[in-house]
Amino acid sequence: MTDSREIGFALWFTGLPSSGKTTIARLLEAHLRARGLRVEVLDGDEVRQQLSPQLGFSKEERDVHIRRIAYVAQLLVRNGVIAIVAAISPYRETRQYARQLIGRFVEVYVKCPLEVCIARDVKGLYKKALRGEIANFTGISDPYEEPSAPELVLHSHEETPEESAHRVIARLIELGYLRS
Ligand code: ADX
Repeated sequence: MTDSREIGFALWFTGLPSSGKTTIARLLEAHLRARGLRVEVLDGDEVRQQLSPQLGFSKEERDVHIRRIAYVAQLLVRNGVIAIVAAISPYRETRQYARQLIGRFVEVYVKCPLEVCIARDVKGLYKKALRGEIANFTGISDPYEEPSAPELVLHSHEETPEESAHRVIARLIELGYLRS
């Protein structure tokens, strides 16, 4: 019998708002469940409402929020679950903290030009940020630090979410996290 503790890992999506993190994460959730694997999605927005409703978007608050996500992901991973995280997680050092805490960690950078993200503006927040109605908005008035050595980069403006999801699966097989 397979030791279930061997199969957990974190699939950590990082990128600008509206870059496609949540869409790709949800597709992967379905693909991995269809393989009979145990999966949980920790979506930044949702986790904030549940675990950090009082937190805002300063660097300190984002760091606390991301460390909470990393902690929950760690609990899942050590119990054999695939934890898919979809959070802007804009700071390299905090993602590095998550990587070290969790160990089995696959960082996926959902790379999308800012102007494409602004045009998509899934939640209408870029518009508000550009009008100066939201402070510290990532990509407009707050930093996003690109990953220096992610396991995978997805170009969400040049490929469909399905294509991206398939590239993630292929990479996970290559890295030995999934069987082909
Ligand atoms: S993170 O930076 O702390 O990782 P997280 O992914 O959890 O962010 O949440 C980002 C979501 O919060 C965005 O998709 C957007 O809906 C909302 N949001 C509200 N204010 C901001 C802001 N100032 N910067 C970025 N996202 C914001």
